[in-house]
Amino acid sequence: MITVFGATGTTGAPLVDTLLAKGATVRAVTSGPAKVGALKAKGCEAVAADFTDPAALAQACDGADKIYLVTPAHLDMRHWKANVIEAAKAAGVRHVVLATGLGASPKAGLTFGKWHSETQELLKQSGLDWTFVQPTYFMQNLLWQAVNIAKDAVYYDDLGGPVAWIDARDIADVAAEALTGAGHAGKGYGLTGPEALTGEDVATVLSEVTGRAITCAPLSPDDAKAAMVAGGMQDEVAAAMVELASIAPKGYLAGIETTVSDVLGRPARRFRDFVAEHRDAFVE
Ligand SMILES: NC(=O)c1ccc[n+]([C@@H]2O[C@H](COP(=O)([O-])OP(=O)(O)OC[C@H]3O[C@@H](n4cnc5c(N)ncnc54)[C@H](OP(=O)(O)O)[C@@H]3O)[C@@H](O)[C@H]2O)c1
Repeated sequence: MITVFGATGTTGAPLVDTLLAKGATVRAVTSGPAKVGALKAKGCEAVAADFTDPAALAQACDGADKIYLVTPAHLDMRHWKANVIEAAKAAGVRHVVLATGLGASPKAGLTFGKWHSETQELLKQSGLDWTFVQPTYFMQNLLWQAVNIAKDAVYYDDLGGPVAWIDARDIADVAAEALTGAGHAGKGYGLTGPEALTGEDVATVLSEVTGRAITCAPLSPDDAKAAMVAGGMQDEVAAAMVELASIAPKGYLAGIETTVSDVLGRPARRFRDFVAEHRDAFVE
C-alpha cells in the first residue's frame, strides 16, 4: 500500500490518479474530513489526518509500505514533515518519496533550499529508503493569475528572467514511478520542463493560444510579495518566494534537467500544451 499525503494538492491529486491507473493500492490523506468522500470516489482508501496530529499520522501510515510526502509551502513545513517521517518509521514504512525543490541541498544559499534540505537530511538519517523529487517552478502557478489574465489581458511577470517551468503532473508521474518501480531509492531527481521561458515568452504563448493580445508587465518584488500575502501566504514564505524569483534574471532558473524523460521514457510536458489545456481559464 502507498500512502499519499497532500492527496488533494497540486502534485498529490494527479499522483493518486496515476498510481490508481497503474493498479497500485492507495491511501489518500487530506486534513479535511469533508474531502474524504471525494477521494474515496476515485477508488482508493482515504483518511483525514492533520500534519500536527501524531495519532492520525500513525493511522495514515499504518500498513503502508511506501509514502509520498508533500506539504504546502508553510513556515511549519519542516515540523510537519518531521512528524510524518517519525510516524512512517514507527509504522514500518520502507520508502519515502519526498517532494522538495530544485537546488535543495546542505550547500543551498536560498531560504527554500535550506528549509527543504533540512527535511531531506532528516529523512536520510531516518534509515528509511528515500527519493527526493526536486522540481522547479510549477506551470500550475500560472493559474493563480488566470482571472487577471482573462480580465485585463496582462501577464504580471514576478520572475524577471527565463524559467524552466514544469507541469506538476510530470512531478506526479516521476513520483509514481519512484513509488512503483525499482532503482529509485537514494536518488535526488531535479525536475524541470523542456524549455526555459521569459515573461515575454509566457505572454506570447498566452496570446497565441487565446487569440487575444496579452502583454507582459513586470511585477516588482515588493508588489509580488504583497500579492502573495494578500492571497493568504505567510509573510516569511512570500519573502522566500520573492528571494527565489530574484535569481531568475541571472538565468539560474533556466537550466534544463532531462530527468522527466530519463525516468519516464517520454518528454516532459510543454508549457504551450498546458496553456492550451487551460485556455478557458485565460479568456473571459
Ligand atoms: N509551486 C511551485 O512552483 C513549487 C516549486 C518548487 C517546489 N515547490 C514545493 O512543493 C510543495 C508544494 O507542493 P504541492 O503544490 O503539491 O502542495 P499543495 O497543493 O500546496 O498542498 C498539498 C496539500 O497539503 C494539504 N494540507 C494542507 N495543510 C495540511 C495539514 N495541516 N495537514 C495535512 N494536510 C494538509 C492540503 O490538502 P487538504 O486541504 O485536503 O488537507 C493540500 O492540498 C512545497 O513544499 C513547495 O515548496 C513548489
